[in-house]
Amino acid sequence: MLDSDYSSVYHRWQQQPEQFWAEAASDLHWYKSWDQVLDVSESPFNRWFTGAETNTCYNCVDRHVNNGRGDQTAIIYDSPVTCRVQTLTYRELQEQVSRFAGVLAALGVTKGDRVVIYMPMIPQTAIGMLACARIGAIHSVVFGGFAAEELAKRIDDARPKVILSASHGIEPTRTVHYKPLLDTAIGLVEHPPEHCVIYQREDSKAELFEGRDNCWETLQAEADERDCLPVAATDPLYILYTSGTTGTPKGVVRDNGGHMVALHWSMKNVYGAEPGEVYWAASDVGWVVGHSYIVYGPLLNGNTTVMYEGKPTGTPDAGAFWRVIEQHQVKTLFTAPTAFRVIKKEDPRAERLQSYDTSSLRALFLAGERADPDTLQWAERILQVPVIDHWWQTETSWPQVANCLGLGLLKIKHGSSAKAVPGFNIEVLGHDGLPVAAGESGALAIKLPLPPGCLTTLWQDDQRFVDGYLSEFPGYYATGDAGFIDEDGYVYVMGRLDDVMNVAGHRLSTGAMEEVIASHDSVAECAVIGVQCAIKGQQPIGLAVLKAGEIIADAELESEVVQLVRDKIGPVASFRSLKVVERFPKTRSGKILRATMRHIADGSDYVVPATIDDPVILDEIKSVFSTA
Ligand code: COA
Ligand code: AMP
Repeated sequence: MLDSDYSSVYHRWQQQPEQFWAEAASDLHWYKSWDQVLDVSESPFNRWFTGAETNTCYNCVDRHVNNGRGDQTAIIYDSPVTCRVQTLTYRELQEQVSRFAGVLAALGVTKGDRVVIYMPMIPQTAIGMLACARIGAIHSVVFGGFAAEELAKRIDDARPKVILSASHGIEPTRTVHYKPLLDTAIGLVEHPPEHCVIYQREDSKAELFEGRDNCWETLQAEADERDCLPVAATDPLYILYTSGTTGTPKGVVRDNGGHMVALHWSMKNVYGAEPGEVYWAASDVGWVVGHSYIVYGPLLNGNTTVMYEGKPTGTPDAGAFWRVIEQHQVKTLFTAPTAFRVIKKEDPRAERLQSYDTSSLRALFLAGERADPDTLQWAERILQVPVIDHWWQTETSWPQVANCLGLGLLKIKHGSSAKAVPGFNIEVLGHDGLPVAAGESGALAIKLPLPPGCLTTLWQDDQRFVDGYLSEFPGYYATGDAGFIDEDGYVYVMGRLDDVMNVAGHRLSTGAMEEVIASHDSVAECAVIGVQCAIKGQQPIGLAVLKAGEIIADAELESEVVQLVRDKIGPVASFRSLKVVERFPKTRSGKILRATMRHIADGSDYVVPATIDDPVILDEIKSVFSTA
């Protein structure tokens, strides 16, 4: 019976996709309606809701105040290390956002200008994002775990007029001073911002440079409130950089209209979340999960969103998540499987759970990496609620495969993210680009056109968008993931087809780390591979061939390279191991066989590639990992 809800909705979307999305859009506020729901006139650069005018901030904030939700809590900020819990109602959020929009406008930010946001998990980050949306500026949030050089790359690509930052962020065992990192990054860029606005947190204040830096609270106190500016549905809302295989990050561009419609639809239909409920995505605003399901999705749906500046363990212990669920009456929890793996490692019998009442919880959603059945079953056992794996990526902004709770829970098959979400037609393609039979593995691809919410292009690089996603399989978007679909239509995502790594649910580029390792004076050649890790899913390991005549000790080189990667990419790389090898296994055309080395490191079966230049080298690589 319930199965048919999903099936009938999926079928309805298939039959009349444009009518389907037009109906979904009618739940939101538009200053001007669309001329076309889907405009394919400039295919492959398809556009949703062309001709329409809207404002994402209005729909997230003002609409709720105008509809009687002004006194409902919009944001709960929970910071276990500083022992602070603060709440903001929708009305208070409206006041703060419209004032901060006034700050940006006074600094000369106008529609289409970029604003980079390099901030910790505090409400001001969401306020900065929404203030940009309010005046049509395009924000680009950079995750705080990236170092100055990575931040600099993103600044030079986005060329922001203003950068928003804070004095510091809080990790369980240390304070991360954002401002010095920002200063270093600005020193490296070709296109510095005109202004920086720094939120000075309690405890430690950052040094401000006259002429460029401004104090957030001083400006906010003096600012006039700004109303929402109608923007085209097709205007960009944000740029979010994500890792590809090279060291140059890809600036995923999100529009206003399609994004708003898709996220709003997903809150009710994928997550089953009703307005007024507390929704908690335990992630970071620097990632797409944070953009979509800490800020935009819950606010569009009139939920209360939790911004948690802590970790699953260590803040203070493995009961941290259960405490937050009880204290804030969380209905929906969304996190990465790695968070549950660390909790399970520290408290395998979930004894800490006994001290809390988590009965408010309706479901746990997992994404960001493969949910291993062991962890998933453990979570089901201890929480006694449905644990729902779902698959998506920065590019899509919302789930492409899920067990849509709002459409009636389907049978859960461990290891599968369930079925294609309405809007997505997922196929498994073979090397020839043709669909394979049920149960056979291949490349997971989405048939074009992509639904609303998905990337419209890469910032300032239409060609990379076409080359990277649309060229390999004409008529499809290539997700970069491998997997299969069983006879019941359940999708199984098995891992990346490229060299992108997934470390603790964070998507990281092997190419970026290789560029850094190669810059070490003693290194002639290097490779980075993501090897299996019981907690973080994958862990990067570097391999290096020394320049002829180099006599540096392996341990010394490792410690220097580890520090170099931390300084240049950031702690988020979690890079801790470098192995020196005599030479690399390569194809006859000179390509390093990274996938083969990864299989060796994981101890999994592999086929010696027919194109290998010298198979004997594989034995040398085996001995390196067997002594690890
Ligand atoms: N600002 C500055 N530094 C940060 C940071 C931030 N916002 N976030 C992480 N870091 C640092 C960490 O302090 C750590 O530094 P260290 O090497 O000095 O210890 C490093 O980056 C690696 O961080 P992380 O990969 O998160 O590892 P961790 O051991 O600190 O925590 C988990 C591991 C599993 C607890 C954590 O990653 C987690 O909670 N993940 C699940 C939720 C999630 O974020 N998912 C992402 C997408 S859904
Ligand atoms: P990101 O763009 O950082 O969200 O990372 C997206 C990538 O994470 C995907 O391409 C997958 O490789 C992986 N991923 C996300 N969710 C899942 C999932 N549920 N199962 C398996 N892999 C996933």
